[in-house]
Amino acid sequence: MTVELAHVEHGAGDGGTPLVLLHAFPVPGAVLDPVASQLADRHRVVVPDLRGFGGSPDPGDDEPSLDHYADDVAALLDRLGIDRAVVGGLSMGGYVTMALLRRHPGRVATAVLMDTKAAADTDEARANRERVAAAVLENGNRALRPMLETLLGATTRRERPDVVARVTRWLDEARPDGVAWAQRAMAARASSFDTLAAVGVPGAVLVGEEDTLTGRDDAQAMAEAFVPPAPVRVIAGAGHLAPVEDPGAVAGALHEVVSSTP
Ligand code: MLT
Repeated sequence: MTVELAHVEHGAGDGGTPLVLLHAFPVPGAVLDPVASQLADRHRVVVPDLRGFGGSPDPGDDEPSLDHYADDVAALLDRLGIDRAVVGGLSMGGYVTMALLRRHPGRVATAVLMDTKAAADTDEARANRERVAAAVLENGNRALRPMLETLLGATTRRERPDVVARVTRWLDEARPDGVAWAQRAMAARASSFDTLAAVGVPGAVLVGEEDTLTGRDDAQAMAEAFVPPAPVRVIAGAGHLAPVEDPGAVAGALHEVVSSTP
């Protein structure tokens, strides 16, 4: 069963290919608003909250799986009358973009993978996700606070207290059921390298220079999996949440991709 996703539309575009931006874990779609608002004078940009986050409904009884997120996004495109879009996915949103490529390849004009990776989890990462899911359900969001260290780059943590405060608030406000469901959905995901190679959809890869969660090696491996290989853009001075750390650089890169997508 799909759920009806809350979303924000920025800009009407000029009839070109729309852009859909999918957020990271455990933050809402608002993490992408600073980028979307910079593109709104040129493009139609849609930013949903995935189920269990922001204004979207709870995950419900469905077995945790990125496939449900992808089907929800496809249903949103149907509702908005969007046949094909450039889809830009940040971290967990990148995993959802790869699930969309698997399940609804005709809906993706270009896949922009930002601070994410195509590999599946190790057993250790899966066990850690289950620990976080259980801790958040049992004791609330305290278990998420340490994530701040890895979500934001060292430069942002040192020099941008406003961004640190905003991300801290998102961590505190995340809904435990949405957090636990997302962790279990990510733990269950398979490797996407074969999908990127087989699907025939063009790609672009962005990575924050200071991203310690999904770094340049992950970005390069993903880029090389596309046929032909996708270009990699490094966002200087930004970490894992590059779109809130340097929205101008990320918006510039996305503008280039959308403008060159037929
Ligand atoms: C994210 O930012 O979405 C997460 O770091 C992804 C993950 O936990 O693998």
